[in-house]
Amino acid sequence: MKVYSNRTIGISGTLLLLFAPVMLAAIASAALQALPQPRSQGGQSLEESIAARRSVRRYADAPLTQDEIGQLCWSAQGITDTRRGFRAAPSAGATFPLELYVATEDGVFRYLPEQHALERHLEDDIRRGLRRAGLGQSMLEEAPAVFIFAADVRRTARRYGERAERYVWMEVGHASQNLLLQIVALDLAAVPIGAFRDDDLARVLRLPDGQQPFYLVPVGRPSANPNANM
Ligand SMILES: Cc1cc2nc3c(=O)[nH]c(=O)nc-3n(C[C@H](O)[C@H](O)[C@H](O)COP(=O)(O)O)c2cc1C
Repeated sequence: MKVYSNRTIGISGTLLLLFAPVMLAAIASAALQALPQPRSQGGQSLEESIAARRSVRRYADAPLTQDEIGQLCWSAQGITDTRRGFRAAPSAGATFPLELYVATEDGVFRYLPEQHALERHLEDDIRRGLRRAGLGQSMLEEAPAVFIFAADVRRTARRYGERAERYVWMEVGHASQNLLLQIVALDLAAVPIGAFRDDDLARVLRLPDGQQPFYLVPVGRPSANPNANM
């Protein structure tokens, strides 16, 4: 058996202590994916996006780019007032109960508004599970990305008590409409989905305690098939 002197252990222990924060930061940043800087200007007017928005349920077999995913996250929950940390969608009393997740073939990611980055939440492609929880709706498995609005109602309830739940529903509406209009402006296609089994969806998503799923938005490129929007 190798015997270490107190002095050796002391030095290596000190080195470990010194480098531990650096190592932990490196591990943490590996789990974070910085997103490209979002744009606050685009080629399509708001009126054109509103007029063109339609629910689309079939998509071409092509992934979204990181640029597109970042822009979409920003439109729903991105920070638009850095001084106060306020976001693209309004929030009752700035209590920010919403959590935005993105499920792709590479796993599930949580959007971090402050860093404009994605944090890995799950390793697996859960889109088949989303489809099952979503009453078999094929868009949930076929879309290259599914945006998921979840919320922790307690954050809003601490200030507003019983009214919190209705406020959260309103916020989901605000944020998801931003997302749907940004999708149109980027020439992408989507449908909002409210028909799913809550418990099954929460299980598939492995949501942390206190969070519940509210709305799903599968997103893709429009299919070339002109009769695909059925
Ligand atoms: C709260 C809500 C829930 C919805 N849930 C579903 C759904 O589960 N599946 C689906 O295919 N479409 C769903 N839709 C989309 C509607 O079917 C669609 O908005 C409607 O047919 C009108 O078409 P448009 O979005 O193109 O204007 C939902 C829409 C809303 C507002």
